[in-house]
Amino acid sequence: MQTRPMTQTDAQLMPPKPSRTASLQEHIDRATQDLIASCRDPERLSPEERRGIIARYSAVLEGNFIYWMTAAYLSVGSAEAHAIIQDNLLEEVRDNHPGMLRRFAIAAHAVPTDSDALSVYRHLENVRRFVGQLSAVKIVLMMAFFEGFITRFMPYLADLAKRQGSSEYEYTDVHGVCDVVHTQELFRALEAEMTLSPDPLEPPAKLLKGVELLRTLIQRILHPRLEDPSAEPVVTTVTGGS
Ligand SMILES: [Fe+2]
Repeated sequence: MQTRPMTQTDAQLMPPKPSRTASLQEHIDRATQDLIASCRDPERLSPEERRGIIARYSAVLEGNFIYWMTAAYLSVGSAEAHAIIQDNLLEEVRDNHPGMLRRFAIAAHAVPTDSDALSVYRHLENVRRFVGQLSAVKIVLMMAFFEGFITRFMPYLADLAKRQGSSEYEYTDVHGVCDVVHTQELFRALEAEMTLSPDPLEPPAKLLKGVELLRTLIQRILHPRLEDPSAEPVVTTVTGGS
């Protein structure tokens, strides 16, 4: 049977092509909601527990966010994803977001200590190793999840800081707004990278590897005493003595 060429009207009548990122975005939304729902009522936390959450959050974010976003920049291949991630990095650097977070932690008397850093060390290292693989789609997915979580987490983080006697909210105010746009932009970058990827794409469980590692790290920030079945002892170097 001979087929006639598709007209513009035919194309308009066709159902819209389902977005390839829709199911991944749903997974990420659920993961974010679960994390937020797991946050304990700030009123029922001790001052030390509140300080610990702010300190571990700072220990993870201050020195790593720009580094991981840079890894995303280095790994992507499309002009669109490059432009989107570059805008994100420009804002981080130009507006000194690490400095903003440090001021937030200082004002809440929650600058990370050695033990705060140690309590997230192993899970942080897992994310760093993953990021080092420079796998474009997986890192962009992870960063989209990170941005979305940060936005949703800001009111809780600000509440913790307020209860610790702080009135410094520049970090939480800025990130509660700008990261909504950043998340949407990163999903656009993801679409562009998926279009470049060789078909077929890896199964969702593999694409979400970075999301899962980051989710475990954030759980550690929120619930440091949570049972961790995969835990291995952290090896530390003991100096002195014999
Ligand atoms: Fe930021």
